[in-house]
Amino acid sequence: MRYRLRQLFEGRMHIRKAGTSDEESIRQIHLEAFEDDESELVANLACDLLKERTSPGIVNLVAEEGMVLVGHIAFSPVLSKAEGSLVGCILGPLAVKPSHQRKGVGKELVERGLKELSLLNVGVILVYGDPNYYSRFGFKREVAEKYIPPFPLKHPFGWQGIDGFDEESHRDPLPIVCVNALNKPELW
Ligand SMILES: CC(C)(COP(=O)(O)OP(=O)(O)OC[C@H]1O[C@@H](n2cnc3c(N)ncnc32)[C@H](O)[C@@H]1OP(=O)(O)O)[C@@H](O)C(=O)NCCC(=O)NCCS
Repeated sequence: MRYRLRQLFEGRMHIRKAGTSDEESIRQIHLEAFEDDESELVANLACDLLKERTSPGIVNLVAEEGMVLVGHIAFSPVLSKAEGSLVGCILGPLAVKPSHQRKGVGKELVERGLKELSLLNVGVILVYGDPNYYSRFGFKREVAEKYIPPFPLKHPFGWQGIDGFDEESHRDPLPIVCVNALNKPELW
């Protein structure tokens, strides 16, 4: 408690789990970070992921500096379409306020999320985003090619993954389903 008070007082950035009371700050981060044509869509997705209840739960993390939220990331469960069994997680969305970009906040959010998921041993971790950014964390196209996303991709090069431990091998690409918030073709 004393450590947290010191962080707040000194205004140092730290990562914590997000709660539903963070909704408006999270919406604002995505509205500011994404381009106008997609910011509303992504901001709504981020808020939906904050409220949706799944098993296992959705991991929502925020970066906080002083009393201000400057970044947000979500990881939600991914299931096999045929069997409904858990195959892993998908990262997204991720955003950092423009005023706080290029200071390592995005990196901290991704690495903290990956660490939490590795402790939970969730399986594959997928992402649909810019390979120039995500490749630095070990995301690879070859891994994601083993999974068929729920909707056709507008940017197939953005489909990447990191293999989990004890990955079950399947010969043919496996169709997957995502949580309700991601179940919208316009997001893919
Ligand atoms: C992408 C984003 C989350 C990175 O956050 P950040 O806190 O600035 O990231 P970091 O400080 O950890 O890393 C910054 C590095 O990432 C690079 N970077 C940022 N966005 C990038 C992108 N789309 N493609 C490639 N590199 C990118 C920066 O050039 C910088 O590179 P450098 O370390 O060589 O200088 C942030 O720029 C953002 O919110 N962008 C708009 C929303 C978005 O595109 N989100 C999804 C990511 S695909």
